Order: sequence, then C-alpha cells, then structure tokens
Amino acid sequence: MMRKNSRIFSTEDARRQAKRRLPRLIFDFIEGAAGRETGSARNVSQFDNIMLQPRVMADVAQCSLATELMGQSYKVPFGIAPMGMCNLVHPKADTSLADTAKAIGFPVCLSSAASTSIEDMAGMAGSHAWFQLYFGASEEASLAMVDRARVAGYDTLVLTVDVPQVSRRVRDLRNGFTVPFAMTPSAFMDFATHPRWSLSTLAFGAPRPMNFTDSNGVNTFDRGASRSGADWAFLEALRGKWPGKLIVKGVTSATDARRIRSLGADAIYVSNHGGRQLDSVPPAISLLPLIREAVGPDFPLLFDSGIRNGEDIIKALALGADFVMIGRPALFALAAEGAAGLNALLKCFEAEISVVMAQLGVTSISQLGPNVVFDNAAAKGDGLEKTPRAALQLAAKT
Ligand code: FNR
Repeated sequence: MMRKNSRIFSTEDARRQAKRRLPRLIFDFIEGAAGRETGSARNVSQFDNIMLQPRVMADVAQCSLATELMGQSYKVPFGIAPMGMCNLVHPKADTSLADTAKAIGFPVCLSSAASTSIEDMAGMAGSHAWFQLYFGASEEASLAMVDRARVAGYDTLVLTVDVPQVSRRVRDLRNGFTVPFAMTPSAFMDFATHPRWSLSTLAFGAPRPMNFTDSNGVNTFDRGASRSGADWAFLEALRGKWPGKLIVKGVTSATDARRIRSLGADAIYVSNHGGRQLDSVPPAISLLPLIREAVGPDFPLLFDSGIRNGEDIIKALALGADFVMIGRPALFALAAEGAAGLNALLKCFEAEISVVMAQLGVTSISQLGPNVVFDNAAAKGDGLEKTPRAALQLAAKT
C-alpha cells in the first residue's frame, strides 16, 4: 500500500525503519560487510573529510541535474547499483526499482543474483535496465547468461570483478544466512517476530535467485561458489562477444583501471563493493581521483560505495565520477515504505543535489570538478583557486 506521507527525509530515517521492519537476518545481509566492517564504515565517514567551497552571488535560479554517460542522456546523475535478492526486503522491490527508474529517468542494474529474471526485468524497466554479470559455474554458463541479456534487449552489461570468492561476512555466518533460505529455528523465530514482513513475503512466495533455474526448475545458485573465472582472459572474451556497452565494476587500483581501459571496456565502475569484500580496503572515494588521473579526463567512470545523500553524490562527481550508483540506501527505503519510500529517498537526493549546486554557484553537473572541493593547502597559500590536479591529490590523501 502506498503511504501518503513518507517519513523518510534521509538515509538514516530509512535505515531506522528498515531495521525495525526486517527480520534481523535480512537487515544484517544488507548492512553487513566483510570482517569487522571497518572498510564499510570508512567508505561513509571519509565523505565527512571532504569539504565543499561555497561561492556566492552566482545566478543559480535554474539548476539542471541532467547528465550524459557513454553517449546517453539521463535526467539525474545517479542510478541503482546491482544488488542480489532485492525482493527479500519487500516483495515488490524489483518492480518498484523498475518503475522508479522509468519515472525519474535513470538506470537500474539487475544483478545476476537477482530475485527477478533477466527477461522479466527487461519487460518491466525497458531500456532503463542494465545487466550485471557474475562469472558463474563456467565460462560457457556465464556467456549463456550474457546471451540471454542480449536477446532480452539489454544494451549495457556490467561485469563485476571484485568477488573472486565471497568474503567472510560475520553477520551472515552468525545468522546462518543462506540463499535460498534454510529455515533454521533461529530464522523461524526471527520471522515470527516480524509478522508484517513475513506475511507479505509469504503471500508473494519466498524470493529466489531467478536466473539460476535449470530445465527441471531446480535452483542451481551457489552463493559461495568461486567467481575467480572473471579474469583478464574472460574480459577479453566478453569484449569480443558483447556488442553493447561494457562496464567493469569493482575496480579500486589505477593500474587495473589502465589495463581495463586498454582491453576495450566502455567504462569503469569504481567500487569496493560497499566494503563487503575486504575489510582493510581504502575508502572508495579516496581512490576515485587516482583512477580518474590514470584513465584521463574523458574516460567514463561510475562510482559507488558510501553514498548516503545528495551531497555525497556531488562530492563523487567533483572528484572524478561521471555517474554515481546508490546501494544500501535504496534497499533501506524499500524495506521501510516500499515504492513510496524509495521515491521519497530519491527525491531527497535530487533536492539535496540541487540546493548544494546552488551553494557552490554551479548550475549544471558538468561544472562540478575539483574547483568545488575545498583545498585546505591552497587556502593557506595564495587563495582558493587551484589546479584540478592539486585538488585531486589532496582528496586522495585525505
Ligand atoms: C550488493 N552489491 C552487489 N554488487 C554486485 O556487483 N552484484 C551483486 O549481486 C551485489 N549484491 C549486493 C547485495 C547487497 C544486499 C548489497 C548491499 C550490495 C554491491 C553493490 O552493487 C554496491 O557496490 C554497494 O552496495 C555499494 O556500497 P554502499 O553504498 O551500499 O555502502
């Protein structure tokens, strides 16, 4: 049911409601990360160390959030990151993501491990749907999935390369979280004490990974399987086979970025998987300027990991991203209030971007660069104007 007045004004509002509504097992699956979860926390806190430089008296009556990525126009500079099993948070999560992508005009990236099939998502989101590939049981099985995406009409493929093995996520291990579900006694208690979630989920049927069903209808998804087949040779094979846009996700090293670019990828997606893979990973936002420098000013870069509001989106765009993807906050909002919650949160992000642009004295996304990032070193020297390179190096160090 659509809520008339959303209670979501920030990611924190959505998270708080999601925590109340979801069984702990599910909430922990979303929020949890690798090891002690310090990498995940640093992704978020590092944004606080980046400050923006206000400018006054510019004519900012009209701000446009429109942007271009890989020759395509988008109404806003953000989309939804690939996330497996979204329908775990709300039975209509994938449908809501598709509807919202169409309504606002942004891309939604369907995970290989999604609770909706490649074909169904193409039907729901049309050209707004991208497909994210995990290397599967074999090269043949992986390329078969790519074929399905091509036949279904997808034009953008995202290859995720930062999950050679699924990392140890302590919350999931402790909770006995598996996909598909194993109904342990503690899971049963967890579901029983969250009846609203349990009843609505039961009514729609327990979500399953929908892209891994064999001809006998048996689900063959193995969450713990090695995905290390996504190597350099596979990227070359995939580039030869996939005629559309190819984005490589999970890149944090400038050296890797240069090599990926040389192998013909159309874009690089800078991400550390929200700290879900390596606890000691540097904050993704600190790596972004280094990768921008490595690939040059014009090569398309996407970014995620730690984005929690519109101001964070501005910072990522200023530090080298062309486009920003939203992860956990979208799932919290869906868990909290379904489609209305997702809409409310994304409207907050849009409004924040717009008012922050006005504060910075810019009216278009293309004006965002190191010029809007406060450079403490330059401020101590001969004023606030600085070279883009100096600002990028500063951001990388903080
Ligand atoms: C993910 N992520 C992810 N990435 C991917 O390439 N394929 C996938 O199937 C998934 N699945 C997934 C499930 C859940 C529950 C989460 C939270 C994340 C990673 C995702 O695309 C993105 O990189 C991170 O979510 C970004 O971090 P923040 O901003 O959410 O902290």
